[in-house]
Amino acid sequence: MIQLHSGRLPKPQVKNHRAPLQSPGPNMAALLMLAVWLLGLQAFSDAEDRNHRERLFLRSLGLSERPQPGGSHHSRRPVPSELWRMFRSSENIQARHSDPCTVSEYGVRGNIIRYVQDQGRLVSGWSSSCQACLVKQLFFNVSVLQPVELLSLAQLEIRLHWKPLGPAGLLRGPRAVSMSLSRVIRATLRGADPRASRRLLLSQSLRPQLEPAAIAMDLTPLAESWRKPGHNYGLVVELSPPPGADPEELTPFLPGNAFPLEEAWTFPLMEATLVVVSLNPHQCRSRQRRSAVHVPVTPSNICKARRLYIDFKDVGWQDWIIAPPGYMANYCHGECPFPLSESLNGTNHAILQTLVHSLDPQGTPQPCCVPIRLSPISMLYYDNNDNVVLRHYQDMVVDECGCR
Ligand SMILES: *[C@@H]1O[C@H](CO)[C@@H](O)[C@H](O)[C@H]1NC(C)=O
Ligand SMILES: *[C@@H]1O[C@H](CO)[C@@H](O)[C@H](O)[C@H]1NC(C)=O
Repeated sequence: MIQLHSGRLPKPQVKNHRAPLQSPGPNMAALLMLAVWLLGLQAFSDAEDRNHRERLFLRSLGLSERPQPGGSHHSRRPVPSELWRMFRSSENIQARHSDPCTVSEYGVRGNIIRYVQDQGRLVSGWSSSCQACLVKQLFFNVSVLQPVELLSLAQLEIRLHWKPLGPAGLLRGPRAVSMSLSRVIRATLRGADPRASRRLLLSQSLRPQLEPAAIAMDLTPLAESWRKPGHNYGLVVELSPPPGADPEELTPFLPGNAFPLEEAWTFPLMEATLVVVSLNPHQCRSRQRRSAVHVPVTPSNICKARRLYIDFKDVGWQDWIIAPPGYMANYCHGECPFPLSESLNGTNHAILQTLVHSLDPQGTPQPCCVPIRLSPISMLYYDNNDNVVLRHYQDMVVDECGCR
């Protein structure tokens, strides 16, 4: 059940899903919406119209509203290095011909990875059985997952930072702390024994280490149950001091403090994160595409992909999108003239339509120059709860155009 962080968890079961896909997808329209919206930024001064376009585009990204993370950039928690690494490797995801809806790092289906941060409190004196214990409540708000999302994995990660041992501590040898992790099954009334409403998940002894240590645990079924309203009472971690430690000195170690010369024994600093991998089936079609092609700049009025760089700063989204700062989205533009040459990738229907158009230009329009191949990008952003989210979006970049 428990392992040190270096390894991988065994593949958790991914549930069977009922009827995920109906409409061709808000996703397919994502790029189109963005283009329409961007053009609208210039063409319309009407703020309401602009808001409407922004909402449409956000919805096509699977967001109900524009994330508004609290605080300034400086006060936000840093992006976990593991997530950066996954973001960088996902930039090459197409080149590796891997499925953008599988998170290979965890071996599960998914296109959204969230680092849900702990919102629990340090509870002192809550534990009647052990006055010298350190009790910490853990609360992860899994309501940030939208109902349509299918939870594939929830992995609890607890990181412990120990105070460096002074000379006397080294002489005595490191002393182990015992840690227990329980889930809370119901609210506890004042005066009642809180232990009665807890169920033990894990109990283990921890030795001080020089390196920050991490504990990982699969909590997928529990996190799934937390998604129901009123079912999330969180977790409780309890650290008990080693026998013989002076209860007066039991304070959590803060890494910012000066290097401690005194030999007082301290609890390690604890940081907990719930890594949640989920799948939005509306934004996942299994189709393999190669990496985004380089779109050349050659002047011509024939249908082809044109270069368009979308800078998220221009759109005012730099406050919630962490990376990339922008991307080469491209767009299709140009004529589909008679006779339709092979390079224009026309359908038989388009070939006939150009023929009819050449005979009767007023009655029948030319076929349209549209994207026929698109590729995905990954985005790293903050959600409303300041969680860091990595998400793969399909159909964000125009690779090829054709007459349709
Ligand atoms: C959890 O997140 C949801 C969605 O962001 C929010 O509406 C709700 O208030 C949050 N709950 C808590 C307890 O923070
Ligand atoms: C049509 O497809 C070919 C390769 O399949 C591509 O090289 C070409 O650029 C496409 N035509 C247009 C107009 O994008």
